[in-house]
Amino acid sequence: MKFLKADWVLTCDDEFSIIKDGGVVFEDKIVDINCASVLEEKYSNLDVEYCGKNSVLMPGLINSHVHLEFSGNKTTLKYGNFLDWLTSVIENREELIEKATEDLIDSELKAMLKTGTTSIGAISSYGFDMSSCIKTDMNVVYFTEVIGSKPDMIDTLFVDFKAKLESTKQNCSTNFIPAIAIHSPYSVHPFLIREVLKIAKENDMPVSAHFQESKSENDWLNYNKGSFISFFKNFLQQTTAVTKPNEFLSQFKGIENLSFTHCVEANAKELEQIKDMNATIIHCPKSNRLLNNTSLNLNYLDDISLAMGTDGLSSNNSLSLFDEMQSALFIHRTNDINDLSKRLLTASTNGGAKALGLNKGQVAKGKDADLISFSLPDTCSEEDIATAVILHTKQVDKTYIQGKHIELS
Ligand code: BEZ
Ligand code: FE2
Repeated sequence: MKFLKADWVLTCDDEFSIIKDGGVVFEDKIVDINCASVLEEKYSNLDVEYCGKNSVLMPGLINSHVHLEFSGNKTTLKYGNFLDWLTSVIENREELIEKATEDLIDSELKAMLKTGTTSIGAISSYGFDMSSCIKTDMNVVYFTEVIGSKPDMIDTLFVDFKAKLESTKQNCSTNFIPAIAIHSPYSVHPFLIREVLKIAKENDMPVSAHFQESKSENDWLNYNKGSFISFFKNFLQQTTAVTKPNEFLSQFKGIENLSFTHCVEANAKELEQIKDMNATIIHCPKSNRLLNNTSLNLNYLDDISLAMGTDGLSSNNSLSLFDEMQSALFIHRTNDINDLSKRLLTASTNGGAKALGLNKGQVAKGKDADLISFSLPDTCSEEDIATAVILHTKQVDKTYIQGKHIELS
């Protein structure tokens, strides 16, 4: 058993409980959590490891939505307009995929570990990131993605999807968990969605989809209008959307660990549907900003569960969730800074665990001992600590995953 003590323990539980001068006792799971002085008496046989002056101990971060296969992008893709970006992705896809070698993806995963991430939801379009995701120390919920709206391609795409999914199932382990992603309502034919969700239900797999990311998407889905008209005409010879947003959402009923990424254009009715399914919204604020999409209105979400993601380097310059949270503080400028910081930290831990179906994301008895520690540059009040953590943390000092110490080389 291991005993860590820190000046601050952020539990990231639903109340955002904070323990000053706290301690955590753990094996692969968390055994006890309390004031360090109480634990020191109770576990007097254990050596206590102090994390240092102004130290913070909290759950490892969960990046619920990342595309590692697009790690090769730095300056290739066009930002500032969703459709221009999407077109540039399609035009540069082959070149970018070739650049995202196994070595590059391995090094991005290591960088994520150094910046406090211990679990990811990896959206895989091709399966080229699979061996990196199997060998990393992080927990990976690996989403095999289905895409394709053309009716004459459905059979081939479904066969290909099943083969990719099967190879993920062959490699299933406690830290490599097969899951299913549906690209979006505009890019996947309802037949494919139905068949793929049948598989998800049979295998009790987490499911995720992009949803209502841009005005173009909303205009196309609801009215067959807007800038998607020429895109679909030129690339896919289509003049109408394959589904309506509410029909799309209603197909997901009964999925236990369900998430929708972006949702920035979702209307009240769609948000209600998401809430009724007990699904999570995954917020990727930097991606939304770079593609000039709307910023998610956090005040509209009611009590829908929230998680955080960086999206891929195709629409971000960093896969660090601390960077993501810091940007979110500046994007959501009307929200109270300390309340927002607590909400972002909870979304990046507890919320991610719900989205991905993991027994993690909180420092609480019985949860997996996925822990990170780091030190603030100075003393801080309890009231301001969440904001201070987001503003001042770039890298972590210590990381444990399921109780195992991870070298951050
Ligand atoms: C499709 O394969 O149907 C598709 C792919 C990307 C964007 C839109 C549609
Ligand atoms: Fe994405």
